[in-house]
Amino acid sequence: MGYSTIEVRKLTPAIGAVISGLDLARPLGNQAFQEVHDALMENLVVFFRDQELSHEQQKAFGRRFGELHIHPTSINTARDHPEVLTIKADETSRYVAGEEWHSDVSCEAEPPMGSILYMKEVPPDGGGDTLFANMYRAFDTLSPPIQRLCEGLTAVHDGAQVYGGRFGLKPKEGGFPRSEHPVVRTHPVTGRKALYVNRNFTTRIVGLSRTESDALLQMLFQHGETPEFQCRFAWQPNSMAFWDNRAAMHHAMWDYFPHRRLGYRVTVKGDRPFYRS
Ligand code: SIN
Repeated sequence: MGYSTIEVRKLTPAIGAVISGLDLARPLGNQAFQEVHDALMENLVVFFRDQELSHEQQKAFGRRFGELHIHPTSINTARDHPEVLTIKADETSRYVAGEEWHSDVSCEAEPPMGSILYMKEVPPDGGGDTLFANMYRAFDTLSPPIQRLCEGLTAVHDGAQVYGGRFGLKPKEGGFPRSEHPVVRTHPVTGRKALYVNRNFTTRIVGLSRTESDALLQMLFQHGETPEFQCRFAWQPNSMAFWDNRAAMHHAMWDYFPHRRLGYRVTVKGDRPFYRS
């Protein structure tokens, strides 16, 4: 793909690219916006280095791509900025956000299209990378009989497993979000098919027995996490990542306890996942 306002350097052939030539604190012009969007569609996650952004500037960047999302648990939001999630770990942490493979908030009926994480502090001895996996490739490399099986299925994504279970949070009135989504989703922009189940939120496949569902989900989770579908991003202070939750999963490595890592995430709303053959 040709770019005239930015430089785009792939991180791996499968997924991820570093974009340079932009100061994200300034409003994105139409051409730059289009090129960042194109690079995201092509690479599923794009990275920027050496950005100095306030919460307002990060939100303004996010709003170029859509309305901003507010996390259903509303925990750890930055003061006066409900759309900004604080992603923080230190010596008091019992868990960290995203330490299991997932697509953000896939338990919602309309899960976010994208997430924009801006890192301010990284652990002093390294660690704290984020891994991303290409879920188009996960679908494309399944054998045709398993592709056909998965294309007819839906699965339950349950926030209670993460927010109530691992995080130990009390649900608000109405409980944690829980939704049924196609196991294979069609990307609304590219039209490509992506495997859409993840270890964090997907609890069962609808219409199968518990044994069948567990076996198929385990196989699909493991397949989606294949190292060849991945890239791994090593953060520096002031790096930013923007990923497409409709086509990529990610996993935050928590290999730096008791050290500290601090970032801020702005999340862009998405639409209801669908499957089109
Ligand atoms: C997340 O899932 O948004 C957290 C990712 C990270 O901390 O690297």
